Amino acid sequence: MKFFIDTANLDQIREAQALGILDGVTTNPSLMAKEGITGEANILKHYVDICNIVEGDVSAEVIATDFDGMVKEGEALAMLHEQIVVKIPMIKDGIKACKYFSEKGIRTNVTLIFSVGQALLAAKAGATYMSPFIGRLDDISTDGLGLIADIRLIYDNYGYETQILAASVRHTMHIIDCAKIGADVMTGPLSAIEGLMKHPLTDSGLAKFLADYQKGN
Ligand code: E4P
Repeated sequence: MKFFIDTANLDQIREAQALGILDGVTTNPSLMAKEGITGEANILKHYVDICNIVEGDVSAEVIATDFDGMVKEGEALAMLHEQIVVKIPMIKDGIKACKYFSEKGIRTNVTLIFSVGQALLAAKAGATYMSPFIGRLDDISTDGLGLIADIRLIYDNYGYETQILAASVRHTMHIIDCAKIGADVMTGPLSAIEGLMKHPLTDSGLAKFLADYQKGN
């Protein structure tokens, strides 16, 4: 499973990259705003800064919601850097734009997926990635991980190559469950990724090894 970090914070991206296990980055307009990145020129520069830190794919979201606007913005984003994946909302014109980009060889991430029907359309439109938001579904007492499992089943039934990018991951167990189900990618906060390495027996075991070493030296 590929690990993406879901942030526009350059320090956290650097930290995750330094771990050596990072495969890419997802951003969205809210994450950009959270870092105080506003204005088209600053946002575009920020995408390039992120691409220069990581080696993998970087999702950059269009703001337009009409076909022509999404195509114009998406083409400009794709030209920015070879690592950019154009992130498109799951709406009617978004599906049309996704098909257009896939025929042009421009990679896409269809975002704001909350149902299997939406997932099916994203695959048929040739999306490179599609992002079901599991945390936001859990927030409204709906089974986010169940959605990932259903999409996995449907994609495997037909051999769709669109990658399931489990998004809105909130904690470490989400990552583990996504891996069990067979999500292709997960994107989450650094804290959820770091949670994977924590175990009290590791800490106490290491403390004992070091104490025993000290005794003998
Ligand atoms: C996905 O690409 C989105 O940026 C993200 O995962 C949304 O997560 P949230 O529900 O924590 O905002």
